Amino acid sequence: MADKLIIFDTTLRDGEQSPGASMTRDEKLRIARQLERLRVDVIEAGFAASSNGDFEAVKAIAEAIKESTVCSLARANDRDISRAAEALKGATRARIHTFIATSELHMEKKLRMTREQVLEQAKLSIRFARNLCEDVEFSPEDGYRSDPDFLCRVLEAVIKEGATTLNIPDTVGYAIPELYGNFIRDLRERVPNSDKAIWSVHCHNDLGMAVANSLAGVKIGGARQVECTINGLGERAGNCSLEEVVMAVRTRRDHFGLEVGIDTTQIVPASRLVSQTTGFIVQPNKAVVGANAFAHASGIHQDGVLKARDTYEIMRAEDVGWSANKIVLGKLSGRNAFKQRLQDLGIALDSETDVNAAFARFKDLADRKSDIFDEDIIALVGDESVTHEREHFRLLSLAQRSETGERPHAQVAFAMGEAEHRAESDGNGPVDASLKAIESKVQSGAEMLLYSVNAITSGSTESQGEVTVRLQHGGRVVNGVGADPDIVVASVKAYLAALNKLHSKTERVAAQG
Ligand code: KIV
Ligand code: ZN
Repeated sequence: MADKLIIFDTTLRDGEQSPGASMTRDEKLRIARQLERLRVDVIEAGFAASSNGDFEAVKAIAEAIKESTVCSLARANDRDISRAAEALKGATRARIHTFIATSELHMEKKLRMTREQVLEQAKLSIRFARNLCEDVEFSPEDGYRSDPDFLCRVLEAVIKEGATTLNIPDTVGYAIPELYGNFIRDLRERVPNSDKAIWSVHCHNDLGMAVANSLAGVKIGGARQVECTINGLGERAGNCSLEEVVMAVRTRRDHFGLEVGIDTTQIVPASRLVSQTTGFIVQPNKAVVGANAFAHASGIHQDGVLKARDTYEIMRAEDVGWSANKIVLGKLSGRNAFKQRLQDLGIALDSETDVNAAFARFKDLADRKSDIFDEDIIALVGDESVTHEREHFRLLSLAQRSETGERPHAQVAFAMGEAEHRAESDGNGPVDASLKAIESKVQSGAEMLLYSVNAITSGSTESQGEVTVRLQHGGRVVNGVGADPDIVVASVKAYLAALNKLHSKTERVAAQG
C-alpha cells in the first residue's frame, strides 16, 4: 500500500489573509462544504482568536463538517489556544495549529524574544493545547530561514510535549526546491524523535516555486502533509496551489508513489466557487483550473488530440471537473431540474428559501439569456442577493445613456437599509457614471484599487459579465463581485457588494502580526 499524502487546505485561513479576500461566515461555510466534497483531509477554517467573526466561522464549520478534520490557527499563547479549542468544540475531528516564529530576524525584530524564551513558549503552548485537543500541529514561523540547530531543539521539544504534526513554513517564499527538500530531510534526520510526528510543508509563492518546493519537501524531505489553497490563493504571490500539487502527485504517481484522498472531479467547482466568492480571478493559463488549461488551439495539437488524446493531454479535463457538456438549462427548465443541477455542481444551499431565491434569479436570467451554463449557475448562487436578501445596499433599478459624442449619464435607484435613494451622475463611461451616482449619495470615501470585467463563459458576447471591484477604506480592503449579462449592471452589483462588505463590521487581526 502506498503512503498517504495528507492534504491540508488553508484557503479559509492563509488564503483569506490575502487583502480583499476576507469572507463572511456563510461564504466560508459554503467553501468548507465544497472542501469536504473535495475530500480534503484537513480544513484550516480560520484563526478563531483573531475576531468574533472568525470565531463564529470556525465554530459553524466545526459543527457542519463531518468528513474532514477542522483546524483553527492560534498564536502560541493560552488565550489564542483556548479560543481555538472553544470554537472547535462541536467538531467531529478537531485540530489546533499553533505557531511561533523561530528565525533570528522574527524573534529579535518582531517578537523581541530570546531563543530560550521562544523555546519555552513553544513547549508551554503545545502542553496547553494537548490538554484541550488530541491533534496538535506546531509551526515554527519563518522556519526555513531559521538556524537549523535551534530549530532542531525546538522541534524535538515540541514533539516531547505531544505535537502530532510539525509544519515547516517557508513563510516568505524564499526557498528553492532542492534546498527546501534537503532542509526538511536534514531536520527529520537530526531530530531524534522525528518519527513520532507527521512532517508537513507550507510554502509561499513569492518566487513562483511554492508547488515545486512543496513537492521537493515531500519527495526529498519525506513530508507527508502538504498545506495548500484553492487557486493558490494567499497573501502577496499566494500559497502552494492545491489543484497543482494534487494533480502532480496523481499524474506522476510513478515518481511520488503516494496516495491522495482527493475527489479530483470537485477541483474545478472548488476553484470557481473560491474565485467567485473572493473576486480573485483565475488566470486563463493557470494549470488545471485555468480556462485554457485543456484548450488546444494549434492545428497540430488539435489533430493529435483527436487521433489519440494522450498525444498532448496528460490529464483528462473531466477528471478535474470540467464538465463535457456545458449547456445545462434554459428558460423552460423547472425547479427540479435546477435543483438537480445545483446538486450535480456540488452546490448545497442552506435552505429551501435560498433555493427559491436562486431559482427566481435563474428564471430572470433565462428570460434574457437563452443558454444557461454551469458558470452562470455558480455566479447566480454566489450573488449576495440570493443568500443575503437583506443586504444593506441593494440595487433597485438602473438607467444609463451613452451615445457617441455625448457624455454618458446614469440614474440609479438603490436601497440603503430601509430607505430608497435615487441618484444620477455623468461619467467618463456608463460604468463610471453609475458608480459616481451611487457614491454621490453613499459618500463612502472608499478608494477603488481594482476594477475588472471578465466574461463568465468564453466564446460569445452573450456571456454574462462578471465584475470585481476592490475598495479600500479605513485600513480595510474588500472585494465585491457582481454578474449580469449587462456589464454596467454587473458593475453596480459588484460595487454595492463591496460597499456591503465595508459596511459589515467584521474586523480582523493579521495572523502573523
Ligand atoms: O506562512 C506561515 O508561516 C504561516 C504560519 C502561520 C503557518 O502561515
Ligand atoms: Zn503561510
